[in-house]
Amino acid sequence: MKILVTGGAGFIGSNFILYWLKRHPEDEVVNLDVLTYAGNLLNLKEVENQQNYRFVKGDITDTAAVTEAMRGVETVVHFAAESHVDRSILEPAAFVKTNVLGTQVLLDAALKLGVKRFHHISTDEVFGSLELGSDQKFNEETPYRPCSPYSASKAGSDMLVRAYAHTYGLPVTISNCSNNYGPFQFPEKLIPLMLMNALADQPLPVYGDGLNVRDWIYVEDHCRAIELILAAGRIGETYCVGGHSEMANIDVVKELLKTLGKPERLIRFVKDRPGHDRRYAIDDQKIRDELGYRPAHTFEEGLRATIDWYRENEEWVRQVMDKEYQQYYQQQYGEKGPV
Ligand code: NAD
Ligand code: DAU
Repeated sequence: MKILVTGGAGFIGSNFILYWLKRHPEDEVVNLDVLTYAGNLLNLKEVENQQNYRFVKGDITDTAAVTEAMRGVETVVHFAAESHVDRSILEPAAFVKTNVLGTQVLLDAALKLGVKRFHHISTDEVFGSLELGSDQKFNEETPYRPCSPYSASKAGSDMLVRAYAHTYGLPVTISNCSNNYGPFQFPEKLIPLMLMNALADQPLPVYGDGLNVRDWIYVEDHCRAIELILAAGRIGETYCVGGHSEMANIDVVKELLKTLGKPERLIRFVKDRPGHDRRYAIDDQKIRDELGYRPAHTFEEGLRATIDWYRENEEWVRQVMDKEYQQYYQQQYGEKGPV
């Protein structure tokens, strides 16, 4: 089978390509990625010379580039997106362009070229925010209530995917997953950012009161869920995917410091994110019952593996924490980032 992965040089996309090629060496993978600040070909060094892997530099909003990359492809797995909520608050336009328009360009090409499966990677953030302390969880029936420019653009992309299925009969599946962490995650997101700061003995900037809750999934478990959906997911269906590790941000940060043997006095409470969603939680009974999904990693195991990976990959860390990163850090946090 020939698969087109979009955004395969990013965090989850690159983990997915490495995972897929290990488990399906008979398949051919084409990786279409424009290489924004978040895309990094170092992530794919292990497979870059393999016959069954090909990288194509291109933008998903460019019809010609997309059509060329999708030729002969049976399955599309669509990760490419602007993915960071804080950046979407600073500059929303790129999120609408890539996440909404880019998805529509891909859907059009998939329809024209007769792709057999279009799998769209989405997020639990499209459902909005849950009450702290309630036992509510998101599931496939939860109405969409996106609250940030990022989640609104992802919700728009999900709606387009559903519309192409309903109107034109495009064979699609969608997954809405919770917060991923693991190797190759750009250090703008909570876990790698706090890890980099802690290793440099710099303050750890916790937004607001630190009580916002997220459900954490080790990235390999997300890859496994996508594999299960591609193998046996029902066409036209949505699957919610969770990590079964709901935690307040402050507890994530404390666990990280404990694992590293660093003091809690490094924690600094800072101004809250505007419109900060309070709590996300996933009820993933559908994918558990239909496809036998279970996350294989506890948060403690996943965190330890993540810390080990960042410690062992200093070159990767040095490369991504470049001038652009320092500028972003200064703009977002009003001070210099760790060097
Ligand atoms: P990421 O920011 O690490 O990677 C995004 C990748 O997309 C990068 O390689 C980037 O170069 C590429 N890209 C961006 N714009 C592009 C364009 N116009 N054309 C081609 N390529 C482009 O993101 P991630 O964290 O790996 O997330 C991947 C997907 O998973 C996204 O769709 C995101 O919404 C979704 N998701 C992420 C999480 C999470 O916790 N990170 C959770 C659920 C869902
Ligand atoms: O839920 C899935 C989503 O998870 C994905 O769709 C997004 O692509 C991904 O970025 C992530 O969104 P979050 O906003 O939840 O992730 P982030 O790592 O940015 O923040 C996690 C929590 O930590 C959130 O409550 C904000 C808080 N936070 C984050 C940063 C970067 C801080 O307190 N301080 C920080 O410096």
